[in-house]
Amino acid sequence: MIRIEHLHKTYPLERKAKPAAGTTVAALADINLHIKKGEIFGIIGRSGAGKSTLIRTLNMLERPSGGKISIEGEDITTLDNNGLHRLRQRIGMIFQHFNLLNAKTVAANIDWPLKITGKYTQQERATRVTELLDLVGLSEHRDKYPAQLSGGQKQRVGIARALANTPHLLLCDEATSALDPETTQAILRLLLDINRKLGLTIVLITHEMQVIRNICDRVAVIEAGRIVEAGDVAEVFLHPQHAVTRSMVAESTPFLAETALLPSTQPSTLTGITQLRGLLVRLTYVGDITYQPILSSIAAATPALITILQGTIARIKDTPYGQLLVELRGEPADVAQVFATLDQHNIRHEVLA
Ligand SMILES: Nc1ncnc2c1ncn2[C@@H]1O[C@H](COP(=O)(O)OP(=O)(O)O)[C@@H](O)[C@H]1O
Ligand SMILES: [Mg+2]
Repeated sequence: MIRIEHLHKTYPLERKAKPAAGTTVAALADINLHIKKGEIFGIIGRSGAGKSTLIRTLNMLERPSGGKISIEGEDITTLDNNGLHRLRQRIGMIFQHFNLLNAKTVAANIDWPLKITGKYTQQERATRVTELLDLVGLSEHRDKYPAQLSGGQKQRVGIARALANTPHLLLCDEATSALDPETTQAILRLLLDINRKLGLTIVLITHEMQVIRNICDRVAVIEAGRIVEAGDVAEVFLHPQHAVTRSMVAESTPFLAETALLPSTQPSTLTGITQLRGLLVRLTYVGDITYQPILSSIAAATPALITILQGTIARIKDTPYGQLLVELRGEPADVAQVFATLDQHNIRHEVLA
């Protein structure tokens, strides 16, 4: 659907004093991404990382300084005005602050992009608007004005309007960042529903991990204008490689700082094992194994002692996963046997301390 190759974007550096000639700030540096048809692709990063700049280059609201972007096989960086006009009809966009026309009703807002193409009769437009209102669940609000709507309802209008010209691609710029958690969930469900029903490709940018976890298939992490990590959401979030990804994962999970969990007291005399402390190990499992009693069978088969310090079971989109932080104590051979059994079941184990 989308191929981004060696994309660069620099802005002139704004300064009160006269800027030195040629002084620029690099907002995007050598971005390479391939986005598949029908997927929900998330781009996450901190404020100022370059997310908005990146998504705005996909419909040429922002002109790249270098590199190539092709959408459905067409190089969009060389399009003339006519070409851009046609491109933008194939791409819908929704925004954090909805960008609705406040003097127009809900129905008129949704009708607007249909009207300006000049392609449809009034009757065709009216039928399409009714369909779209139904799709986003706003049929009863068609004659209201934006000021009479909640945030979630406003974003539903934004979505209907973006879909009016049956685009192949939907761009979402922090589409749920102005919404409360419950409304965010409802809007994300609607986006997922539309993605599945219409086979629409969705690219979304966000600073919220929860958004990516809930609906994205793949994710790219952007930092200081560069993609630092990309892949399937479960892989990236369960095994983050880059420091930025790690810190975002840590902030968004209920896990405490790992070292705070280590027992600080003397060893338990209860067990008779006099080792000061064992290994702090993080276990991660993905898929159906999440619901299997693996730990209890390991515990039954080895004299090693496993203490669960913290644990969670959750889902990334449709994939269940579990993460446990355990302290593992025992003779080296027993510990090795525990690791071997975990390997057999494809349970990832990392010794943290
Ligand atoms: N029109 C502009 N002129 C100059 N610098 C800009 C402009 N737009 C964005 N920038 C700079 O580019 C960088 C990336 O900005 P942006 O894409 O908005 O980040 P994000 O959406 O991730 O918060 C920032 O350093 C920002 O200050
Ligand atoms: Mg932004």
